[in-house]
Amino acid sequence: MVEDITSINPTKRTFVTGWPISHSRSPIIHNYWIKQHGLEGAYERLPKNPSEFGAFLTTLADSDFVGGNVTIPHKEAAFQLVDQSDELSSKLEAVNTVWIEEGILHGSNTDGYGFLANLDDRCPGWDAYARKKRGALVLGAGGAARAIIYGLVSRGFDPVIISNRTVERAETLATKFGPVCRAVGTNIGPQESDVSLVINTTSLGMSGEGNPLDVSGGLTGFKDDLIMNDIVYTPLITPLLRLAKEKGMVAVDGLGMLLHQAVPGFEKWFGVRPKVSEELRALVIENLEKEI
Ligand code: ATR
Repeated sequence: MVEDITSINPTKRTFVTGWPISHSRSPIIHNYWIKQHGLEGAYERLPKNPSEFGAFLTTLADSDFVGGNVTIPHKEAAFQLVDQSDELSSKLEAVNTVWIEEGILHGSNTDGYGFLANLDDRCPGWDAYARKKRGALVLGAGGAARAIIYGLVSRGFDPVIISNRTVERAETLATKFGPVCRAVGTNIGPQESDVSLVINTTSLGMSGEGNPLDVSGGLTGFKDDLIMNDIVYTPLITPLLRLAKEKGMVAVDGLGMLLHQAVPGFEKWFGVRPKVSEELRALVIENLEKEI
């Protein structure tokens, strides 16, 4: 009998889809791990526009993909389309990781995990320290902020202050994530600056009009023992992080969130839990620098 070796050791195909998707660094990360673990696998960029996305996802079980990542602008649509979403993605109403299990399309959200794991990695003890102290201030109220607020609440932060240009969006999230959350506009007063952790989740750097923290204001009012985290990683050191460093604060960049959010998906698809190493981080930084 001639054995069909593809059925014994098939190449597992995985993907990241979004619109646009050409700048995604996820292929660098997953293909590095595939190679590192000697796996038969591939991780591809798949551009899908909003009108193609639904058909692509709902027929995934019939394709040779075992799963993949979903990014902007499809995370909310993916949540609606999966057969089964876990508790976390249901709370966030957004899915960034999908996989097929016994013909069923499953969805999860690993953004909050990536956020927490990055701080655990770069700033050990950050939550115990911050919780004992004065809570957290989240700048922005978009999709990324949602996962981060959930993560902060799960680690016991109190208060979690959400500051956003459009205050109604901050109010919606504060209502959703419970009484420890409080919504404010962009006026940061003494109560809002008396926190031990600040996370910038806004898409722009810190120079945009209406931004709650104007770097030219020199972070006046914030204590020197602040932990400053920016989820923007292009540039790696944002003006906000640079200023925080200059003031002797702890500054944590956003690249680790991207690296760590990839871990649970890879484990689902390939059955190996990969590690976020300095070598991998350096590889992605090298790629980011090439494109600047
Ligand atoms: P994501 O899913 O990446 O978080 P998003 O949902 O578009 O993206 O959210 C972007 C966030 O950046 C929002 O909080 C947005 O504020 P608004 O809700 O008021 O739009 C914030 N943001 C974008 N540009 C901004 C700017 N120039 N000044 C202040 N905030 C800005």
